Amino acid sequence: MADLLVKLYDLPPSAAQPDPQLPGTIRRAFAAERRLICDWVATAFGSGWASECEAAFARSPATCFIARDAYELVGFACYDATAPGMFGPMGVRPQDRKRGFGRALLLASLHDMSVRGYAYAVIGGASSLKFYQQAAGATEIPDSTPGFYRGMLRLRGT
Ligand SMILES: CC(C)(COP(=O)(O)OP(=O)(O)OC[C@H]1O[C@@H](n2cnc3c(N)ncnc32)[C@H](O)[C@@H]1OP(=O)(O)O)[C@@H](O)C(=O)NCCC(=O)NCCS
Repeated sequence: MADLLVKLYDLPPSAAQPDPQLPGTIRRAFAAERRLICDWVATAFGSGWASECEAAFARSPATCFIARDAYELVGFACYDATAPGMFGPMGVRPQDRKRGFGRALLLASLHDMSVRGYAYAVIGGASSLKFYQQAAGATEIPDSTPGFYRGMLRLRGT
């Protein structure tokens, strides 16, 4: 899983409404939602991503975006969590994938990075080059596996 590079000065427009029937579903997380969101991420995606989510909440405003369907959390995305200038982690719960939430979370986060003055974003250990290529024009960084995560402690079996 290589790292990817995204040109933040050449992004497609943000898609803040992935599903027209669910207006306003993508937004920055409130600090008051920190525990709820990080616990949800731990249950759905594991303790490593939950720890990175905590790092996103250590910033003010939080560099964590969420997707919700009515009052239910459907997905999340963070940046400046793994390292400055890096996007991720991001996840959408399995039953809500392929509804546009992932793309909308990605673009909301990348546009926020652009507004903050970043020129490029790095997507760490990308699971799908095709998804990030199509959604944000990402390109693979040569020789970036295992990249920044090399030597990271892991629980046995993860
Ligand atoms: C990757 C992920 C966030 C995508 O979320 P999503 O809500 O399903 O994405 P979208 O619905 O916005 O998909 C946008 C497009 O990308 C495509 N796509 C989504 N996931 C894809 C994947 N893993 N591989 C290839 N294409 C993918 C969709 O089919 C869609 O294409 P279309 O516009 O032609 O219909 C989601 O699959 C996920 O949570 N995966 C597990 C966690 C993970 O891998 N996170 C990323 C770590 S780098």
